[in-house]
Amino acid sequence: MAFYHMLLWFGIALLSVASLNGYKVERYSLLMPNVRPNKPELYLCTPIKVNFTRNYYIVGFEPNASMNTAHHMLLYGCKTPGSSKPVWDCGEMASEESTEESASPCNLGSQVIYAWARDAPMLRLPKDVGFEVGGNSPIQYLVLQVHYAHIDKFKDGSRDNSGVFLHYTERPMQRLAGVLLLGTAGLIPPKTVEYMETSCEIKENKTIHPFAFRTHTHSLGKVVSGYRVRANERGIDEWTLLGKHDPLKPQMFYPIQNDIKIHKSDIVAARCTMESRRNSITYIGATNKDEMCNFYLMYWVEGKSPLEQKYCFSRGPPLYYWSRDQELNNIPNREASTL
Ligand code: CU
Ligand code: CU
Repeated sequence: MAFYHMLLWFGIALLSVASLNGYKVERYSLLMPNVRPNKPELYLCTPIKVNFTRNYYIVGFEPNASMNTAHHMLLYGCKTPGSSKPVWDCGEMASEESTEESASPCNLGSQVIYAWARDAPMLRLPKDVGFEVGGNSPIQYLVLQVHYAHIDKFKDGSRDNSGVFLHYTERPMQRLAGVLLLGTAGLIPPKTVEYMETSCEIKENKTIHPFAFRTHTHSLGKVVSGYRVRANERGIDEWTLLGKHDPLKPQMFYPIQNDIKIHKSDIVAARCTMESRRNSITYIGATNKDEMCNFYLMYWVEGKSPLEQKYCFSRGPPLYYWSRDQELNNIPNREASTL
């Protein structure tokens, strides 16, 4: 990518960031190329290919967007992008009727590494933590997805360049960031409150330091919570809250305040409490009529690579529940479903 032309423009910002960390941090702008959204509820994606001859470390995400224009933005790391076009329709919530060609953000190796909504401020990763991209890392492309909910302001022919300024360095970071995505399949019966739950044992010999989380459902989500579960000497599970949130509030990454460490043989678990007043079954799926249950855990590890494991998914209701999982006891039923 053309990394260098931004340097002059942001020389001053560069200087202050540099003196703070003791290494040079540069900015790269990943912005929509002056697009003109032509229908409401449009999701657009634009990619950049990262230079594969060297590694870069993203240490911060500075949004360039306002809530009057962009409803939300997601930044995906991909092995290969969903399209070879400079901009494409990548609507997750698009209904099946949509005639235009649309494609997902990534074709292979999809992971969300940043989310913005509702005028959220810049996200700086903790000291010495970076997302490794380019080189021999699994992230060869970065794909920016912008959700344009209302398009009235584009009726006069104006254009949009919402996006993010990536703060990055070439200095290898001691601590590498990663995202673990917990979620479920399954279904929600009509007129009921349902728990969509998942859990996984961490099998890799790494110490995980969670520092931010994000929740995602569509319209039926009430509470989404995530836990570290660790059995004590008597075999009783201790549930430590990683984060919980109302998924209908802005879906960005929120900080995890406590210094919680997750290591080998710990279990990570998440629950989405869903309330349906519908007359029919709601399935997991990508459109507005469907639901999703996602808890994203952003963390750092010391050493050469973040977790191999990127996902922790269960079959969800009616096939999987924490209460039927032999590995789990002492479930904080009430706490996991209240804010
Ligand atoms: Cu949105
Ligand atoms: Cu979704």
